[in-house]
Amino acid sequence: MTIWNLGSINADHTYRVDKLPVAGETLASRSLTIGLGGKGANMSVAAARAAARVCHIGAVGEDGTKWRDRLLEYGVDTRFIAVADEPTAHAIITVDDDGENQIILYSGANGVIPENLIGSALSEANAGDIFVTQNETNGQYEAAKIAKELGLRVMYAAAPFSADAIMALDGLIDILVLNEVEAGQLQDATGKDVSELGIAQVLITKGADGVTVYDNGTRLDVPSVKVDAVDTTGAGDTFTGYFAAGLDRGFGLEQSLNLAVQAAAIMVTRHGTADVIPDLKDVQDAKL
Ligand code: RIB
Ligand code: NA
Repeated sequence: MTIWNLGSINADHTYRVDKLPVAGETLASRSLTIGLGGKGANMSVAAARAAARVCHIGAVGEDGTKWRDRLLEYGVDTRFIAVADEPTAHAIITVDDDGENQIILYSGANGVIPENLIGSALSEANAGDIFVTQNETNGQYEAAKIAKELGLRVMYAAAPFSADAIMALDGLIDILVLNEVEAGQLQDATGKDVSELGIAQVLITKGADGVTVYDNGTRLDVPSVKVDAVDTTGAGDTFTGYFAAGLDRGFGLEQSLNLAVQAAAIMVTRHGTADVIPDLKDVQDAKL
């Protein structure tokens, strides 16, 4: 089985600061790290780290082919990553001493992924494969529609959150991943409880409170793992990528969730994004 991920590829510029800046403030950072990121790339790396077969669909600019190459080094199939006329996307991330973050995105090449590239990639997909996407690229609707028609399971990680973006995918989503606050916003926007949207599986991540899942209406609660958080950036993406990998590898719902929760817990103890996502052995050895 293969995971097909239409997703962003960002050069993450992470600045560590004592505290997050306020409006009008000029703030010196203690360090700058530049690494591979983007919610899409993070999910692809996480799924590959969890030993799933992953094909990433996306775009970088001429200035960012090294990020495509890095995905390849992590074992991700990069044949459907275009080199676009726009600059590579980047993120400006500030992380403070409490592990809180702020992120500013420049979407560049992530917004010009050619539609025919999406079509060519998915023409290699098989029924039962998993299609994953998030809200940092163009083409989500078109891709989800093709994926659904081909009998793939469509997984949507609603980040960055937009209730409109979710509603635009009405009828196409099989698995929805969002956090607690977003679940509330979606409920306000639709007037319905998230468990009543006709989506087969809804995963609500709640940080230290674990994960609540509605699996065809049946509620399941998975506790979190207690760790000292230093940087939560990329933890949600790691959760989603690991969960997709678990499903793709034929693990049951609970086993996939446990694996995903543990991988995400390790991730919050590490500074950085795609480049520090734990592999399966790290997750097993951590014995969380
Ligand atoms: O979720 C974390 C990610 O958000 C970062 O890697 C950054 O690139 C932004 O997309
Ligand atoms: Na992190």
